[in-house]
Amino acid sequence: MAESIKVVVTGAAGQIAYSLLYMIAKGDVFGQDQPLILHLLDIPPMMGVLEGVVMELEDCAFPLLRQVVATAEPDVAFNDVSSAFLVGAMPRKQGMERRDLLAANVKIFKVQGEAIDKFARKDVKVLVVGNPANTNALICSKYAPSIPKENFTAMTRLDQNRAQAQIAAKIGVPVCNVSNVIIWGNHSSTQFPDGSHSAVEINGSKKPVPDVLKDDNWLRSTFVETVQKRGAAVINARKMSSAMSAAKAAGDHMRNWFKGTEPGKFVSMGVVSDGAYGVPKDIVFSFPVTIENKNWKIVPNLPINDFARKMLDTTAKELEEERTEAISIIEA
Ligand code: NAD
Ligand code: LMR
Repeated sequence: MAESIKVVVTGAAGQIAYSLLYMIAKGDVFGQDQPLILHLLDIPPMMGVLEGVVMELEDCAFPLLRQVVATAEPDVAFNDVSSAFLVGAMPRKQGMERRDLLAANVKIFKVQGEAIDKFARKDVKVLVVGNPANTNALICSKYAPSIPKENFTAMTRLDQNRAQAQIAAKIGVPVCNVSNVIIWGNHSSTQFPDGSHSAVEINGSKKPVPDVLKDDNWLRSTFVETVQKRGAAVINARKMSSAMSAAKAAGDHMRNWFKGTEPGKFVSMGVVSDGAYGVPKDIVFSFPVTIENKNWKIVPNLPINDFARKMLDTTAKELEEERTEAISIIEA
């Protein structure tokens, strides 16, 4: 058996963590041959609840789980970790946009960036889930200058999974038959869910989704809007933000980062832009990526038509505005 790795989950007493911890501890993310030490971070008033989560983890008797450390101290939580799920942050309520959470949440990611810089392994892989996820990830990386900025990512995998499910339902195939749906940009209502490069397997052969659907209007309107507004739809129905599906997506994201993507397939992740596809640098923008040996690479040379260009520019502009707002909140 391999040596244990340390994995931190922040917001460990919250909704998403309740599903996510189960998946991680069971071996669904890092593999059935990878023992784990789990670090659970939450704020001091939640330590009682966290104690209950620790009891439940013990009671699950997971064979791979070697130790659980529950703490309210970032220095302890981030010590020597190989993987960090930054979930802890306030969720939005009905009627809010995700960027409305900047004022409440962005300072958390400054503090955690500083702790990651000092205490985590230098090859730590950081996934920011707490909203607004892209800009929080950017701020976190800025306060952890000793860690490569490629190691900070934001979650748009839930949007990708939602988009894949919408296309599969429209065509009438199992969701696993649909691949290469892209989420460009911000995890917000300006994101661009793009089905134009996606493929579907029907009767053993792979075909471009637009050729099978023969309905570009649906792909550019209903599909885009449904995915953009799905988070709000869940909040309206549940009166709480998505949690089970968010945990599943966080596990999918980190598993692909550690284990790689399948040949011919790509996934979407918010990463610090290097200017690819004419996207401004220094924002965390969701791109299609392939992953090998724990390194992601933006998929190159996808054709971008006028419609897509406009969508990419709109979501990039929002991220530039969020960056300005976040910096002014931190510096105030
Ligand atoms: P929740 O309120 O159930 O749990 C959040 C937990 O974070 C709480 O236990 C809280 O005490 C803790 N917390 C707050 N500040 C903290 C800090 N400084 N350090 C450590 N822990 C802290 O919320 P949730 O439903 O689990 O959602 C968490 C976040 O994830 C929200 O911001 C939500 O909007 C976001 N989210 C993102 C996506 C995505 O696709 N990127 C999807 C779903 C939810
Ligand atoms: C989601 O997409 O479900 C989450 O980001 C929660 C939200 O505020 O929409």
